[in-house]
Amino acid sequence: MERLQKVIAQAGVTSRRKAEKLIEEGQVKVNGQVIRELGTKVSPSDEIEVNGVPIDKEEPIYFLMYKPSGVISSVKDEKGRKVVTDYFPEVEQRIFPIGRLDYDTSGLLLLTNDGDFANILMHPKYNVDKRYIAKVKGIPSKLELRTLEKGIQLEDGKTAPAKAKLKSLDKKKQTAIIELIIHEGRNRQVRRMFEALGYPVQKLKREGYAFLDLHGLNPGESRTLTPHEIKQLRNLAVT
Ligand code: URA
Repeated sequence: MERLQKVIAQAGVTSRRKAEKLIEEGQVKVNGQVIRELGTKVSPSDEIEVNGVPIDKEEPIYFLMYKPSGVISSVKDEKGRKVVTDYFPEVEQRIFPIGRLDYDTSGLLLLTNDGDFANILMHPKYNVDKRYIAKVKGIPSKLELRTLEKGIQLEDGKTAPAKAKLKSLDKKKQTAIIELIIHEGRNRQVRRMFEALGYPVQKLKREGYAFLDLHGLNPGESRTLTPHEIKQLRNLAVT
C-alpha cells in the first residue's frame, strides 16, 4: 500500500505537493469515490482518477548512466539531437534525467520516473556533492585553486565553498587536470568557475555524485541503482 499523493506523483502526473493540493480540492477519485484525505493508502489494484482521467501507474525505476559527451540531458530535443533517454529504448517508464550535464560534458547522470526522488536530490538545501574532472587551458596556481574553494564571484553570485585539487599538468601543452567538488548545481557552473579565473575548460566529466561513481561503466552504458543506494540517496535529504 502506498500513499495516494505518492502514487500520483510516481505516475508522472505532477509533483507530490501538487498532488496533495489536487486531493484536497476534490479532484482525485479512488475507485469512483472522491478522496480528500491526504495520506490515504492505495493498493496497485485501486483505480485512481485525476480530473476524471485514469492515471497510468508506473513502477518507480532508477538508473545511473555514463552520459557520453555530445548528448542532450533531456527526454527530447527540438533539433533532433541525441538525448539521454535514447539510450534506454527498452524502458517503458517515462524516465527523465535528475538535473543535467551540458551537451559537451560527459559523466554520471541519474535518471528516474520518480518525481519526488528527483526533487529531493535537486534541492539546493541537500548539498549533494558532485565531483568533476576538468581539463583546463593553462595551469592554475595553488592560490587560484584556493580561490575556487573559497568561492568565486560569478554573474549570478558567489559560489559556495568547494574543493579543488590539481591532479596533473602538462607543461608543454600548458594544460592541467583538476578535480573540483561542488554541491551547487548552477547552469554551466564548473565551466564558469574556471572561466572566471582565466582557465577555459577544454573537457569536463562528472565522475562522482554523492557516494556514487562510474565504476564498471563505459560511455553510453547504465545500470539500475540498488535498493540500498536508493535508500542512501533518500537519506541525504534527512541528514
Ligand atoms: N558544470 C558545468 O559547467 N557543466 C556541467 O555539465 C556540469 C557542471
